[in-house]
Amino acid sequence: MDPELLAAARAVRRSAYAPYSRFKVGAALRDERGRIHVGCNVENAAYPLGTCAEAGAIAAMIAAGGKRFQAVAIVGNGAAACAPCGGCRQRLYEFGLPGAFAILAGASSRRVVSRPLVELLPLAFGPHNLVEAS
Ligand code: THU
Repeated sequence: MDPELLAAARAVRRSAYAPYSRFKVGAALRDERGRIHVGCNVENAAYPLGTCAEAGAIAAMIAAGGKRFQAVAIVGNGAAACAPCGGCRQRLYEFGLPGAFAILAGASSRRVVSRPLVELLPLAFGPHNLVEAS
């Protein structure tokens, strides 16, 4: 567990712009140097243009010079542990260090689910697949 990372995800969730779904998400990444980078979902009246919290956190990490993350914390509405969407599982897979884990929580509960990142995307497509490109 990483209480500081979870607290960062809970805090940034409050900044989410989610007037359409009303589902606010906060995400926080702990990079290879121990730094925390955060993101929240940002929706748009043109619905498909909305971005997930995880995408924002990854962008912040890369912009700050981070390379990979040791852990990600994700917090959504309600009490249920917020599972990342399929697209974000792929996004996260790209940047997770070996042994990286995911901490999933809901805003109104202290209950937390922690899982190795690789368990969220079995048989993942990744950079290793592209070395065979001709
Ligand atoms: N959302 C995220 O930010 N991350 C996820 O992994 C799941 C979904 C956002 C997208 C949209 O703004 C809202 O939650 C409802 O789907």
